[in-house]
Amino acid sequence: MPTNRAIHELTDEHVIKCMGDEEIVIDEAQGMWIRDAEGRETLDAISGEWVVNLGYRHPRVIAAAKRQMDKAEYVTPVVDYESRAVMAQRLADASPGGRFTKVLFALAGGDAVEGAMHLAMRATGGTEFVTFYKAFHGRTFATIAMSYSDTRMIEESKAGLERYLTKQNRVPNFYCYRCPFRLEYPSCDLFCADFVETAIVHQADGKVAGVMAEPWQANGSMVPAPDGWFQRVREICDRHGALLIVDEVQSGLCRCGRMFAVERTGVEPDLIILGKALGGGFPLSAVLAKEEYAGLLLWEFGFTQMGHPVSCAAGAEMLAVMIEEDLAGNAERMGARLMDGLREMAGKYPLIGDLRGWGLMIGIELVVDRTTKEEAWEAATYAMQRAYANGLLIGKTGPVYGDNGNVLKLKPAVNATAAEIDEILVRLDRTLAEVSLRWPGAR
Ligand SMILES: Cc1ncc(COP(=O)(O)O)c(C=O)c1O
Repeated sequence: MPTNRAIHELTDEHVIKCMGDEEIVIDEAQGMWIRDAEGRETLDAISGEWVVNLGYRHPRVIAAAKRQMDKAEYVTPVVDYESRAVMAQRLADASPGGRFTKVLFALAGGDAVEGAMHLAMRATGGTEFVTFYKAFHGRTFATIAMSYSDTRMIEESKAGLERYLTKQNRVPNFYCYRCPFRLEYPSCDLFCADFVETAIVHQADGKVAGVMAEPWQANGSMVPAPDGWFQRVREICDRHGALLIVDEVQSGLCRCGRMFAVERTGVEPDLIILGKALGGGFPLSAVLAKEEYAGLLLWEFGFTQMGHPVSCAAGAEMLAVMIEEDLAGNAERMGARLMDGLREMAGKYPLIGDLRGWGLMIGIELVVDRTTKEEAWEAATYAMQRAYANGLLIGKTGPVYGDNGNVLKLKPAVNATAAEIDEILVRLDRTLAEVSLRWPGAR
């Protein structure tokens, strides 16, 4: 049996690790629990990287994957096969109003975002997009250009890539706790949403094919869209013949208390992008499109393993479980329970500046001073470390997303039980008590 240290050392020697470097080993996982190579157990309050929305090794998901592996582990995307067809049908049925009848499959979130860009360009004849300052849509060349814009670190990481990065039209994002325009909701009358029109009219050089937004801006500080924002942007898109594209790579699949987070807004988009959890833990992403926006030229988009049969089989079973067990409703109820516990903690720990939650998508913004809202980013880093020491895996935003890294993330499995939610609260309370001792001046 290799030790944690041996695994770290082998990793350091051979793996180019370019997505963070946590000193954590995961050897086995079940439900909401992960175990390292030496048997230490930790409660995972972030579903892997918000991927295993039903927890690890859900018996029905694993059985479906195994059934597919016993039939064919791979099928070329140029032919037809059952698991992909069934997955597409289930997604279409689960889509808002059942109106997104076409599915473009891909592998990861970033390439599905590119797929949505292709579809929007074909549907509108436009070539430009409007995106948001703290948006995150991926790390491919096209999606880096759609993503975060405004930190020094990002300028460094873009160096040399300029020739590949297309210009996109960026506008300030919604963020009511720290309004980029220093206005207050609702007296602001959604000034930030109106900026989308400014970008379309005054900033774009050519026709805008689409406005791409996350209903819950996830990596960029864990911020939900304020009420009315999507209505306003929908009207703007309609006035200018641009598609409204929602990136639900993080927020979709019951995470936000609905199958799709955009359903909370009452607005119907034109394209919905899914990834991360879509394959029940296996790599899979997709764009859900209405019939009229589903045209692509042959060969203009695609990957050899797109719509992988094992991922489709696992994903289709995951969707069935979500619907049969009303896990969107469970996420809403368990999210409310978690938020109640967090509000109690906010009464005890002045470090908690703001709490934001839609279902089981929860952000805890830490500040050293509630009046000035100065970010407590060191405290957030320390909180992550203490949480792990207390047997709890949580997440945190980071500067690479145009964020100061002071927002803790909780995104537990959407089938979490009340007992599991309470256990998260116990371990988090212990953690925040320890962190508060280190920041006694927080007020
Ligand atoms: C909203 C959003 N879109 C797209 C992506 C890119 O997904 P992937 O890393 O699978 O390419 C992410 C990843 O964090 C994301 O959060």
